[in-house]
Amino acid sequence: MIRWIVSSAIFAIYLLELSSGFKEHEFKKCKDTGFCRRHRTKSGPKFDVLHETASVSGHELRATLRNMDAGKTFNLIVRAHSSGTIRLLLDEDLDPSVTNGTRYRISPEDSVTLPSFETTVTPWKTISKTTKDIVVVSGDVQVTLTFAAFKMLVVVKGKPALSLNSKGLFDMEHFRLKEEGVECDGCWSETFLQFTDSKPHGPEAMSLDIAFPGFEHVYGLPEHATSFALKPTVGGEPYRLYNLDVFEYLDSSPFGLYGSIPMMVAHKVGLTIGVFWLNAAEMFVDVSKEGSNTATQWIAESGIVDLFIFTGPGPAEVQQQYAEVTGPTAMPQQFSVGYHQCRWNYKDEADVHLVDSGFDEHEIPYDVIWLDIEHTNGKRYLTWDSHLFPKPIELQNDVASRGRETVTIVDPHVKRDHSYYIFQEAQSEGYFVKNPQGGDFEGWCWPGSSSYLDVTNPTVRAWWAQQFALDKYQGSTEHLYIWNDMNEPSVFNGPEITMQKDLIHHGNVEHRDVHNLYGLFYHMGTAEGLTLRGYQTHGEDGDRPFVLSRAFFSGTQRVGPIWTGDNTADWKHLAVSIPMLLSLGVTGLPFSGADVGGFFGNPDAELITRWNQLGTYYPFFRGHAHLETQRREPWLFGEPATSRIRAAIRERYALMPYIYTLFRHANISGQPIMRPLWFEFPDAKELFHVEDSFLLGSAILVSPVLQQGVDNVDLVLPKGARWFNAHSGEETQGAGKPVKTKVDMESIPVYYKGGSIVPRRERPRRSTRMQMKDPFTLIVALDGNWSAAGDLYLDDGRSFAFLRGQYTHREFKFEGLKLRSAVHNSGSAVVTSVGSWAPAQDLEVERVVFLGLPKTGKGYTARMPDGTEVSLEAGAASTKFSQAENAWVLRQPKLGVDADWVVELVAHK
Ligand code: GLC
Repeated sequence: MIRWIVSSAIFAIYLLELSSGFKEHEFKKCKDTGFCRRHRTKSGPKFDVLHETASVSGHELRATLRNMDAGKTFNLIVRAHSSGTIRLLLDEDLDPSVTNGTRYRISPEDSVTLPSFETTVTPWKTISKTTKDIVVVSGDVQVTLTFAAFKMLVVVKGKPALSLNSKGLFDMEHFRLKEEGVECDGCWSETFLQFTDSKPHGPEAMSLDIAFPGFEHVYGLPEHATSFALKPTVGGEPYRLYNLDVFEYLDSSPFGLYGSIPMMVAHKVGLTIGVFWLNAAEMFVDVSKEGSNTATQWIAESGIVDLFIFTGPGPAEVQQQYAEVTGPTAMPQQFSVGYHQCRWNYKDEADVHLVDSGFDEHEIPYDVIWLDIEHTNGKRYLTWDSHLFPKPIELQNDVASRGRETVTIVDPHVKRDHSYYIFQEAQSEGYFVKNPQGGDFEGWCWPGSSSYLDVTNPTVRAWWAQQFALDKYQGSTEHLYIWNDMNEPSVFNGPEITMQKDLIHHGNVEHRDVHNLYGLFYHMGTAEGLTLRGYQTHGEDGDRPFVLSRAFFSGTQRVGPIWTGDNTADWKHLAVSIPMLLSLGVTGLPFSGADVGGFFGNPDAELITRWNQLGTYYPFFRGHAHLETQRREPWLFGEPATSRIRAAIRERYALMPYIYTLFRHANISGQPIMRPLWFEFPDAKELFHVEDSFLLGSAILVSPVLQQGVDNVDLVLPKGARWFNAHSGEETQGAGKPVKTKVDMESIPVYYKGGSIVPRRERPRRSTRMQMKDPFTLIVALDGNWSAAGDLYLDDGRSFAFLRGQYTHREFKFEGLKLRSAVHNSGSAVVTSVGSWAPAQDLEVERVVFLGLPKTGKGYTARMPDGTEVSLEAGAASTKFSQAENAWVLRQPKLGVDADWVVELVAHK
C-alpha cells in the first residue's frame, strides 16, 4: 500500500511537471557529461600507426594504431566497397588482464545494417608505401594513411573530400581497471540530479575529428529542432544524439530529440559526401567553420569506431550508398501516403463514427482514423476499454467499408499487473530489461509502474511479433495497424525521462551501448508482427506492415515512418518542421512528417490552414492534437477555412500517383521524397542554405507560407529552369534569389519544374483505395528545349506481390513534340526485371496538359496512336490553367497506361 502511495505520488508529480513546459535543467549538456567534458575540443594523446603493420591484405588495409602515451593498441581496418563507400573500423586490442569490459559492436545479425553490404568489398590497390604513409586506391577514391601522427585523407576524383584527425582531436580510450587515486573525470560513476550512473566498465569513449575541406555546408544528424544547414556550435552546445522524450521541445535547439541518425552530408559545388558512424551510444557532435572549410568533432560514450564514408560524387549517389548499408525505405501501404486523422483521444465508438462521417459530409478525403492511449483498458496495450470501445471489430470493419483503416497505439512499457496477459507472459519468460541487480527494471510511464520489453533480444522480438496475430490481439482485424510511441524509451521517473545507462539487456549488454537502438528494435518487432499477421490473413503475398514510430535510428526506414513528436501549435514549429524533415530526408529516413496543426495548444483558422497547405507535401501527413486541446477536425474552423483545408487535402490525393511513385524511388535507391533545392541544383551555391522551401521529388517546388498575416513570400525559384505555377499554369523564369511574391489564403506557392511530367488523379474520392480505378491526368511541363520526362509506378498498394513482379512502372517522355509512353527502366541493380500489374491494363490517361509549348498562332493538333487527329484546347480552356499562356489540353485521349504509344503534336502554321 505504502509502495502504491509513493508510486502514485511520483506519477502525480510527473504529470504536474508535464503541464509546465520545457525543462532545460532536466536534460544534460556537454558540461554535465563526463565523456563529453573529457574530449570536447581537447587534443587527444598521440596516436601513431605502427608503420611496419600497415599493409593491404585481401580486401583490407590493416594496421595497428597505438596510443603512444598509454602504450595501448587498436586494430585498424579500412575497406572499400563497390558502390564507392569506404569503411573504417577501429576496435580495441583488448589487454587480457583487463577483464571489466568489451566493446559493443552492432553486427549485421542485429538487422541494423544489411548483411548484403558486407559482400560488396572490393580490393585496394597499393600506390605507395613509405615509412611516412601508405596510399591505396579503389575506383575514384584514394586513401592516404599517415603514420605519425595518425591521419587519414580521402580524395575523390582528385578532390580532397575528407580528413580524419587533421586537428589532432582523435582519441580512443582503453579499458582499464579502476585504480584508487587516479583522477578520471566522470569515468567510474557520475551523478546528474538525483540519478547516479554506476559505470562498472569505466571509460571507453571515442572522439573523431572529421574535417571537410572546401565544404561550407554540412547537413543531417537528426533529430534536432533546428536549421537544416548545421550551424557552428563553438561557444554553444554540440548537437546531441540521444533518443529522448523531450516535453514541449523548443523550436531552435541542438538538444537531442526522439531519434538519432549519426549521418552527416557535406555538400559543395562538384562534390557531395556523407559520413555515418554506426554507433548507438550517446554522441555529441561539434561543428565549426574555418573560411570555406567545415570541421567536426564526434564524441561517443562507448562502442567501436565503425565509420562509413560515402564518396558520392553527387547527392543522389550518397543517398544510394547509405541505402546500401542500412537499407532503402520500405514500400509503404498506399493508404499510409494519404491523410491521417489522429487525436488524443477519439473518445469512444460514437466519436469515431462522428469523425468518420464528418469527412464524408464535408467531402474531405482521409484514409486512417487513429486511437490514442485512452482506447485501452487502463493503458494495457493490445486491450480495449470495454465501455468506450465495446465492439472494436465492428468499428474497424465499418471504417473499412468506406475504404479506410484504423490505427491503435501500442507502447513498449508494460503495466506491472499480474492479471495482464502480456505482463504475465513476459515476466515469466524473463523478457524484461533488467536492473543492475538482475531483477526486472521498473519505471513509470502512462500505466503507472511498468516494465520494459527487452527488444534488443531477437527472441523477445519474435514473441512480441506473435502478439499481433488476430487470435492473440483480441478485437483486432486485418484493417488495424499500429502506432509505437514512447520507445526512446520514455521513463517518467528516469534520468532525462529515460532509462539509466547501467540497466542490463540481453547478452549482458549495458543500456548505455544500445540506447539509441531500443526504439528501432521495438518498431522492428511490431512491424514483424503485422507482416506475420499479413501472411496469416492474406496468404502468400501478405500485407505490408504499417507502424509509425517516434524513436528511430539508422535502419528505421526499412521498418516504417516516424513523426517529429510533440510540437506546438505556433508559427515557429510550423517553420521548423521543414528543416527537420529535410534532415531526415538526406539521412535516409524520408517517410516522416510533423503533427499538422501542432500537438500542444490550439491553432487558429489561419495557422491550421497554412499547416494543412504545407502538410499536403509532407511525406507523412497526419493531423494530431493533445488531450487538452480543443477539437480541430478540418471542418470545425468554419468557412472559408474548411474549404481551404479541403482543397489542400484533396491536392494531396490528386498527387497520389506522383507521390507513390516517389516512394518507389525511395524504395529502390534511397532517394529522399522531400528534398532540399540543392539536391536538384547541386551547383547553385545560393541555394545551399535555403530551408523555407523544398522540392517534392524533382518536379514540384513548394514555398509554404510560414508567417502569420502575410500577403507575400520570398519565393526562390532556382536559376536555369522554367517554372510553372501549379495553380494557374503561368510561367516564371527562375531568378535564383528571393523574389517577393503575392500570396492569398487560398493556397501556397507551388511550381512544376520545367522538364517534368507529373501524373495526377483529379477525381475527389473518399480515400486512396477509392482512387485505384481512376484515370490519370499527365501534366507535361516543358523545359527550355521543349522536353520533359516523368514516370508512374503502380501496384496493388497493399501486398508484397510487387516483389514478384506484380507492378507496372511506366516512363513518359516528351521530345521533338512527341509524347511517348514506354516501360520504365529503373537503372537499378535491385530491380532488373520488368513488372506487370494486370489491373493497370484497364487504366487510362484521361487528359494531358502541356505547359509551356512553343508559341503558335493557330494551335496544335495531336496525332493519336490510331492515326486519328484531335485538336488541343487552347489556354487549357475549362481547366484551372485557363489564363496561362502556351498551355494546351488534350482531352479524352483514351491512352492505355500500360501500353506503349506515341502522340505527336503538330503546330498549325
Ligand atoms: C506522446 C506522443 C503523443 C501522444 C501522447 C499520448 O506525447 O508523442 O503523440 O498523443 O503521447 O499517447
